[in-house]
Amino acid sequence: MKKLRLEEIVNLVDNNSIVADIGTDHGIVPYELIKNNIAKKVIASDISDKSLDKLREKLDFLDDSEKIVLKVADGLDKLEEYQVDTIVISGMGGNLIVDILNNNLSVAKSANSLILGANNSLYTLRKFLHENCFEIEKEVDLYENDKYYQIIKAKVGKEHFCDELEYEYGKFLIDNKSENLKKYLKEQLKIKENIIAQLCSDAQTISNNQQMAIDNLNDEIKNLEEVLDKIEI
Ligand SMILES: C[S@@+](CC[C@H](N)C(=O)[O-])C[C@H]1O[C@@H](n2cnc3c(N)ncnc32)[C@H](O)[C@@H]1O
Repeated sequence: MKKLRLEEIVNLVDNNSIVADIGTDHGIVPYELIKNNIAKKVIASDISDKSLDKLREKLDFLDDSEKIVLKVADGLDKLEEYQVDTIVISGMGGNLIVDILNNNLSVAKSANSLILGANNSLYTLRKFLHENCFEIEKEVDLYENDKYYQIIKAKVGKEHFCDELEYEYGKFLIDNKSENLKKYLKEQLKIKENIIAQLCSDAQTISNNQQMAIDNLNDEIKNLEEVLDKIEI
């Protein structure tokens, strides 16, 4: 498999499970799960029938292709409770993932595992999980094509983080002193410091708006340094 992000998602799926891959698009996750004998069956689902053509083209090259069932559906709409063990939703914004889970919460809760690869809005997604009685079992992070990704594996359970920064950056990754998270935080720190330097050098006098922007950036820098300190101890 060429894509590291998708490889990490496949690695998070428990052996012998029945999986639904929501928003499957190219269908690489279902294909690899069956090819590598990880899943017993996969429902490869997408809101767009045209997107599913990419997977249809691949199925001729796969033994056991009958173990993949293609479905056109909005989110979890066409899944029954307890129909699958694992629900994968990845390559979408965090807010869309929240909407998909929220629209069929009882189906989401009937699965043993949720594997969620949000492209953004990780704070919102983690908050949603805790507010709706899911706990975060594991998190994986990675860089691919210079973009930083976090993938969450969650299950039904009660959990609460005391520190808001743990919702933003991932308590599991902070506690496990993730090298990728460390790199990401340092990059963000540099970006924000450069913006402040630029704002200060461009202006003869600093306007109220500029000062507000600088204050916000300094707050963000303080947060980044706080998380970095926890990782570097
Ligand atoms: C960028 S692709 C992600 C593909 C793959 N899951 C990945 O991680 O690389 C997003 C896919 O989600 C599908 N999608 C968007 N909204 C959806 C929804 N509400 N329900 C199901 N699929 C959806 C799109 O049609 C598209 O094929």
